[in-house]
Amino acid sequence: MSMQAKRRADYLPPAFTISDVKMDVRLHPTATRITSELQITRVSDHSQHLELDGDNLSLVSIKLDGEIFEDIEQREDTLIVRNVPDTFTLTIVNDIDPQNNKALEGLYLSQNTYCTQCEAEGFRRITYYLDRPDVLATFEVTLHGDKAQYPTLLANGNPVARGDNDDGTHWVTWQDPFPKPSYLFALVAGDFDLLEDSYTTTSGKSVKLELYVDKGKKSRGIFALESLKRAMKWDEDTFGLEYDLDIYMIVAVDFFNMGAMENKGLNIFNSKFVLADQRSATDEDFFNVESVIAHEYFHNWTGNRVTCRDWFQLSLKEGLTVFRDQQFSADMTSELSNRIKHVRVMREHQFAEDASAMSHPIRPEEVIEMNNFYTVTVYDKGAEVIRMFHTLLGEDGFRKGMDEYFRRHDGQAVTCDDFVAAMQTATDIDLSHFAQWYSQSGTPVISLTTMFDERKQVMDITVAQHTPPTADQSHKVPLFIPVAFDCIDENGKHYTDVDGKIKDGVLLLDAPSTTLHFTGVESPLIPVVLGNFSAPAKVNNNLSVEQMLLVFRYAKDAFNRWDAMQSVYNWCIAEFEKGQGEQIDDSVWNALSDVINNEADNHELLGECLVIPTFETLCQTRQRVDPNSLNSARSAFCDAFSIKLASVLKRVFDSISTDSYQYDQRSVNARRCKNVLLNHLARTEHGDSLVRQQYAAADNMTDTLGALKAAQGNLPDAFEALMQNFESEWNVDPLVLDKWFGLHATTERDDILSQLSLLKQHPQFTINNPNRVRAVMGSFAFFNTAGFHRADGAGYKYVTDYLLELDAVNPQVAARVVTPLTQWQNYAPAHQSLMKAQLNRLLGHKGLSRDMFEKVSKSLA
Ligand code: ARG
Ligand code: ZN
Repeated sequence: MSMQAKRRADYLPPAFTISDVKMDVRLHPTATRITSELQITRVSDHSQHLELDGDNLSLVSIKLDGEIFEDIEQREDTLIVRNVPDTFTLTIVNDIDPQNNKALEGLYLSQNTYCTQCEAEGFRRITYYLDRPDVLATFEVTLHGDKAQYPTLLANGNPVARGDNDDGTHWVTWQDPFPKPSYLFALVAGDFDLLEDSYTTTSGKSVKLELYVDKGKKSRGIFALESLKRAMKWDEDTFGLEYDLDIYMIVAVDFFNMGAMENKGLNIFNSKFVLADQRSATDEDFFNVESVIAHEYFHNWTGNRVTCRDWFQLSLKEGLTVFRDQQFSADMTSELSNRIKHVRVMREHQFAEDASAMSHPIRPEEVIEMNNFYTVTVYDKGAEVIRMFHTLLGEDGFRKGMDEYFRRHDGQAVTCDDFVAAMQTATDIDLSHFAQWYSQSGTPVISLTTMFDERKQVMDITVAQHTPPTADQSHKVPLFIPVAFDCIDENGKHYTDVDGKIKDGVLLLDAPSTTLHFTGVESPLIPVVLGNFSAPAKVNNNLSVEQMLLVFRYAKDAFNRWDAMQSVYNWCIAEFEKGQGEQIDDSVWNALSDVINNEADNHELLGECLVIPTFETLCQTRQRVDPNSLNSARSAFCDAFSIKLASVLKRVFDSISTDSYQYDQRSVNARRCKNVLLNHLARTEHGDSLVRQQYAAADNMTDTLGALKAAQGNLPDAFEALMQNFESEWNVDPLVLDKWFGLHATTERDDILSQLSLLKQHPQFTINNPNRVRAVMGSFAFFNTAGFHRADGAGYKYVTDYLLELDAVNPQVAARVVTPLTQWQNYAPAHQSLMKAQLNRLLGHKGLSRDMFEKVSKSLA
């Protein structure tokens, strides 16, 4: 196995292309036979041998233009076919073992369903191929399988023929007319319940929609299918993009490494992002189903019709598609809560990644294992970069740029530079400086300094940017940053600068710093920056807590208002860290009480504003954190908050009536607000009864889970009792039980490690299922602050012991769960050395996967 890094700079176009593929697949649990007939042409004048990718394959035979061909050499990850003509047909027969494929990459069999996951480089685990995204071919695939066990046989495109054999098997042939890279290949065989529907596009084309789910789960698929139709309509209305095949299929499977996969015409989904009904799914689950369904659908244009030239360009399709799904979700639900949700991801996870040894630009320069780069940086920061294009070009300009992108590149495999060039045709702003967002990693910090001259009534505000060096890049350049900028005085009057550097509320910061001048200023102005999170940056604004509260009161931008509250909490928690929490002035508590009172009817904003920043977010504004003292300070603040504000919290809680369950924005906001309030109230004398009441009365999973979360950590007796009840109710439903696993794994208690061991012995737990592993070990490592960061290092060791076991089964998932350990830079020296000791144990392990090796070795370098 090669641990060698590939570099973006070393890209070479393929020496051969494949125009057409004809595949024959005879399904068998341990010996599936693949026959693949490839039409191959040499590209340009060279005399190289043909070098095909292959991984874990048993080669049976090779024919060239119909004749047995023996001038071949099998190496570890490749098959060299020597002295081939300029154009020829290569017929390869090989066997694979889907049942023992626990890495869930390539073709695997789990719970009696065959399915595939080929992105990024899984197709080479099915057959020998030029497994790279810039080789595009049409596919015709014939599947053969036992008719009784696998009545459904699916592949990409349209079914064109089917038949029965005498031996109890049947077969179906699928044709996909659109040339595609191998990573978009898919097949599925199983026995499902089917939901059917249809959709007529704007131009009048009728598309068959098919959703395949586990037997008996049909009613849980309805929402996903409705979401799909909304996404299809939205893409037509917003970008003029229609679906292109006659049939669109989605299959939900229980064993899946990631969220979902956009295979052409045949999406395969983690069932977690398909199945939802009011009893089993929370509002958040519904939201996620709709957004992932849309995400994969949107890939049909941004990813499939226009794909990536090489994997370094992943953000070309992922950043763009995440941006598109975010816009869709905002239109379907609400702009503010969507924006806050995505900013939370950036601040909790992406900033942390950029501050760690895994820091990389949205277009990485160097990769050992591609699966390690499906990151919050490539996806979410990538989407923020697309959003900045949108801000710079405006709605119409952005659409114009997108149209040009498709006009130029439909059917091609292209680069991020091609995307920028298409956008450039739609704006006068020179995008070359802006494009550095593709090559520079790290989180820029925007700092503000103010100078007020009371006599002249003028004020200067200097806005400076600085990007601290990152593990992968020591030298940083100033970026081109759109900084949404507003300025208020203590009476809430808005000001703009005299030179007009702020245009339409946005300052385009393209230098290390710039100074804004304000006149007619009677009292010091308060800068309100980065409205709607206009750039993926941190802000150093040095506001007093009184000023933050004024921003909340007067800012026009709802995101800024929410953010001001987050800053207030952050300031308060810092007081608790200094041991001065008790001295927080009554005026602050009174102001908080006013906020709650004044916004009592605005459930959306209040619900968001009452969420105290998470431990992970707090880490990003601190250095060398002692996890346990920060965690205790946060918790002490939460106690003080709920006790001091108990009566107003309770009053608003009682004022929110939730009728029988509906998934619409108004009810979602009300439930969210109510559950956030309940979380605070759980720390008060009313806690126990409120929580038990809500649990007993709940007609939906949102309120059930809300009660459990409120009890967790605050009301151990209620928590124990309700969790037992929950387990007995949902024991047969692994997807729901994952919530229970997750709650146990994130509970802060002294005996958490033995609790984890019990969870691992639970009959529903298996190391082979990524959702289960994430629910237990992932939740613990990422979110159980006290347990994971135990001062004796036992939490780190526990996770590491498990990772050693998991890495041998599923390296992709293991390399995800190791992330919190690799972020040791955030913590105090004592924790750093304990964490590094465990990373060293991993690195020293014989047979470590390439996925783990890359992350662990980087984090120790
Ligand atoms: N393209 C998929 C999506 O974002 C992600 C698939 C990644 N899977 C993987 N094993 N790397 O929708
Ligand atoms: Zn995607």
